[in-house]
Amino acid sequence: MKTLQTGDDEKSDFVKITRKINFFASMNMGLLEKILTYVTLYEYGAGEKVCRQGEKGDAFYAVKAGRLTVSVKKGLIFSKKLAELGPGDFFGEMALIDRAPRNATIACETAAKLFVLLSEHFEAAMRENPKLAEEMKSLAAARRFELIHNT
Ligand code: CMP
Repeated sequence: MKTLQTGDDEKSDFVKITRKINFFASMNMGLLEKILTYVTLYEYGAGEKVCRQGEKGDAFYAVKAGRLTVSVKKGLIFSKKLAELGPGDFFGEMALIDRAPRNATIACETAAKLFVLLSEHFEAAMRENPKLAEEMKSLAAARRFELIHNT
């Protein structure tokens, strides 16, 4: 995993990506610009794990490029692939909302670039935008439902 410089190009990319993600589209430019100052861009290699089920969660991720898989443990040895994520998708919200360990393992199927927001900044964005917070919570609830029915 490597940290990339977030230059003006990446920031305008982030604005474009976030405009395609319903959850961020509800942010006004003021809030989005504020959030952008806290965003870091990370680059991962194919096969690298971004987060592991059971670990403490301290960040939220939005996919700029690449494909990632979401999987959960099934018993002691096996794991089950639940979903694939690609550009415009995001993950890592559940552990932050619930203040609980990561519910799934996210691995890079291809090399990937991810925008990362630390929990304190994610929480500030939620606080300043109740509509966004509601949408995040309802997506987390839908994902939780899927997790319960797949583990
Ligand atoms: P978190 O529990 O913080 O870390 C693992 C993440 O996987 C979780 O947040 C969600 O963002 C994501 N996740 C869990 N279940 C699904 C699902 N069914 N589809 C897509 N993403 C999921």
